[in-house]
Amino acid sequence: MRNPIIVALDLATAAEAVDLAQEVAPFVGAFKVGKELFVSAGPRIIEQLRGTGASVFLDLKFHDIPNTVAKAVAAAVRLDVQMLTIHCSGGRQMMEAAEASAQETADSLRIKTPLVLGVTVLTSMDTGTLSELGGETDPARQVERLAQLAVSSGLRGLVCSPRELIRLRSLLPPEMNYVTPGIRTGAEPADDQKRTLNPIEAIQAGATWLVIGRPIYAAKNPAEAAQRIWASLTN
Ligand code: C5P
Repeated sequence: MRNPIIVALDLATAAEAVDLAQEVAPFVGAFKVGKELFVSAGPRIIEQLRGTGASVFLDLKFHDIPNTVAKAVAAAVRLDVQMLTIHCSGGRQMMEAAEASAQETADSLRIKTPLVLGVTVLTSMDTGTLSELGGETDPARQVERLAQLAVSSGLRGLVCSPRELIRLRSLLPPEMNYVTPGIRTGAEPADDQKRTLNPIEAIQAGATWLVIGRPIYAAKNPAEAAQRIWASLTN
């Protein structure tokens, strides 16, 4: 079984991120670099993380005109990331341009095309937030609508919460990939995550990759925490 654990490196500096990555790399499949780390550490952090042998998920959630997003995606592919995110609300043309750019850039470099993952509705948004924006006000319905648009625009993967996973799996083609945060083992605090699944439940519900942050990086012994989670999935 491929190791589906993506450690969210929600840390402020490259030094902290690289130390943690080296410590846990034997027990995980990938590292997620978000806005804080990328902006503070710069693109070199990708190279440093790739040096551990793990994959990199660049979670910058691009949302712009199609041409701009296509160029940003091409730049990310050249950095050698294996997964990246865009906002589905950028629309069909933007998603098609992102996917085409990922494929063309990867082909020209003779590397595997990274997964361009669609972000549907941020879990921080509720009916009130959506009402203020106009349009669909039910978050679950808006998630489904954007997920179906992502599929018809050629995306091969989505970021989704544990709550959305089973519904999307039943609705979308079986080959879709799902990257799921909101994972807790039960041994640590839920923090600000409201609806969580444990790693085994999430895989059984159809997650392809699990994004796990604090249960690993805030653990007393991060390597041991990562090893325990990986062992729970393989035993
Ligand atoms: O520390 P924790 O395991 O909660 O980290 C989860 C990671 O997944 C964080 O980087 C968080 O920003 C991200 N995420 C999330 N929920 C979403 C989308 C992304 O927790 N709906």
